[in-house]
Order: sequence, then structure tokens, then C-alpha cells
Amino acid sequence: MNIFEVYQLWPIEPVRAKGCKIWDKEGTEYLDLYGGHAVISIGHTHPTYCSMLKEQIGKIGFYSNAVENSLQVELAQQLGRMCGYPDYSLFLCNSGAEANENAMKLASFHTGKAKIIAMNKAFHGRTSGAVAATDNPKIQAPFNKTDHIVFVPVNDLQALENELKKEEYAALMIEGIQGVAGIFEPQVEYLKSARELCDKYGVVLIFDEVQSGYGRTGQFFAHQQSVVKGDIITTAKGMANGFPIGGVIMSPKFKAVTGMLGTTFGGNHLACTAALTVLKVIEDEHLINNAKIIGEYLISHLKGNKAIKELRGRGLMIGIELYPEYLTLRDRLLFEKKIFTGGAGKSVIRLLPPLCISKENADQFIDAFNDLTK
Ligand SMILES: Cc1ncc(COP(=O)(O)O)c(C=O)c1O
Repeated sequence: MNIFEVYQLWPIEPVRAKGCKIWDKEGTEYLDLYGGHAVISIGHTHPTYCSMLKEQIGKIGFYSNAVENSLQVELAQQLGRMCGYPDYSLFLCNSGAEANENAMKLASFHTGKAKIIAMNKAFHGRTSGAVAATDNPKIQAPFNKTDHIVFVPVNDLQALENELKKEEYAALMIEGIQGVAGIFEPQVEYLKSARELCDKYGVVLIFDEVQSGYGRTGQFFAHQQSVVKGDIITTAKGMANGFPIGGVIMSPKFKAVTGMLGTTFGGNHLACTAALTVLKVIEDEHLINNAKIIGEYLISHLKGNKAIKELRGRGLMIGIELYPEYLTLRDRLLFEKKIFTGGAGKSVIRLLPPLCISKENADQFIDAFNDLTK
């Protein structure tokens, strides 16, 4: 059997990693400003993470959701306290797409309506509802096409109200910061008005914080830049430092009914232990503050570089839009300077490093970037 080749691969195989560093099988060292797509939050092979997971796997790694699991309860309590939604509830699943799928389903159960408003250029995942709410026809099969999803431009209140007025919608779904699109933010005033409109028309406000959450922007969730609260917040990538997990955080107004949501693997002992360790390390090592400080440092030192058309983002979710003559820069950073970064289309480099990135790591990137663009 062969692998079904759907990914464009770099000819590099990492075999070892620590903190913000990765080594390939030839022993070459790389700086990781990509975090495996915003997943590595506390750094690779953190000692607390390794020891807590080893300890847990020696006790019990998995059992079903038909029995009590106090690790889930502890995770809900710690996450609620740290993320600023202590009175909300948590449903655990396995990925970002699954979290969004459940969020939309919950909103639809709650309102009795079927339609969802999403944003132009949105990315919410690849399962059937999530990909339908993703503004990219190329990754939607005919099976996924539906008139249940309508896209509106980010920050366009009139377009939003024109749809909401139709009173057909269960939810409005917005990324905290649009990641795959190339780092675009909803404005604070837009979020405030969107919240008021959702209340006025009885529509559930879902924040997709799968990429922008878990401290990445210098706040627990990116939307907390505003005072606006979501009815549902979805999370995944940074949540367990690479162990597959997703979470749906929901307001007390959603009443649980036995059997309404479910999953085999979601909330298993290992996933919960990994997620609890991530929260502990984020707190003990003040990683949210580090994300803010190093993010500001990176942005201030990149500003003014002649290759950069626009710098966007906050904290450690940074989009560097390049002028056309610099489109090979991401590959050159990787192959000449041994630095992993993320991309968005051809013209945007996305920085999504582990939240433990040091000033020295940031300087290594800035020096490499300046050298390749001098
Ligand atoms: C904002 C956002 N939502 C959802 C997803 C889907 O997450 P997953 O790949 O874990 O299903 C992603 C993945 O890139 C994302 O960036």
C-alpha cells in the first residue's frame, strides 16, 4: 500500500525536536517558526509534557465516554479559569474541523434553524459542514456544496445585517484572526456590532479560535482584544502541543441532552493529560505574555524591510505580505537559513512559532530575513 499523496512535501524529515529547534535525519538543525501549523504551543518535547504523558500512559491511555473521567472535569475547570469563560461548558473532540462541525450543529439544534453565515476567505476545516463554511470551492466536493452557508465580507456590517434580517440563520461564525486567508483581523467595532446584531436576531455567535487561540496572540483568545463574548468558542491546534484534540466551549444557555453530541476518541485520558500539561506550562512559564512581547519585538524589527508590502497580525500570529520580487523568500529561509515558516498563498509568510520562542530565536529569524532581502 502507498500513501495517498495529498500533501506537498518538503524533502526534509524531522526526527528530533526541542523547544523551538528541530533536527532532521542528517542532523541538520532548523529553527521552527511554524510550530507544525500553530500546533506546538509550549515547545517541542517539553520535559513536563514528556513526563506527564509517560506517567499517564502507564496508568490508562484510553477508555470510552461511557465511563467517568475526572481528567475531563479537571481540564474543563482549568481551561474555563484560564480562558475567561469559567461559567461555560466544554465538549471534547479530536480536531479543529470536528470542533466547528459540533459548534454549527449545536447552534442549529439550539435555534431550530439551518443556515450559517461565514466570512469571505474563511477556513474552518475539511469535514462536510466545516468545508462548506470554508470559502474555497476547490476543496469542496459536490457532496459538500450547500445553500446553508452564506459568505459575507469581513468588517462589512451592512452586508451582515442584510443577511441576518432574513431571520434564517442559526449562527455567525468568525475566526479570531483569519489564518489560512493570510492573517486578517475583524475590527473591534465590527465585533461589538456583530454581537449586538446576533442578540437582536437570535443568532449564535461562534468564534473559531482553532488557530488564533490558546495564547498565540498575547491573549487567551484573539477575539478578547474586544470585550465581546462568543456564545461558542472552538479550539484545537495549540491545545495539546501536537496530541490530537479539539474543544467546543459553550455558553450556559446551551442545554446538554444525552446523546446530542458524541465521539469515540474525544476527551481520552492521554489527550486530557496533554491538554492539562499545556495549560500548566502556559501558566507556569507566562507564555501568553511571552507571545505578546516577542510578537511585538518581531513586528517592530521587521517593519520597514523593503521586501514587506504589509505586516499584519498580533503576538505570534504574524502575516508578512511580500512584494512580488520576493516570493521565493519562504523557500530560501528554509533551505538557505534552515528556518521553518508558514505560508498563505504565494505572497504571505505566516509566523506561528511555539509560544516559548526566545528573543535569540527571534533575532536569528530577523537576521536571516534581513540578509536574504538586503
Ligand atoms: C481557523 C481554523 N479552523 C479550523 C481548522 C481545521 O482544523 P483541523 O485541521 O484540526 O481539522 C483550521 C486548520 O488550519 C483553522 O486554521
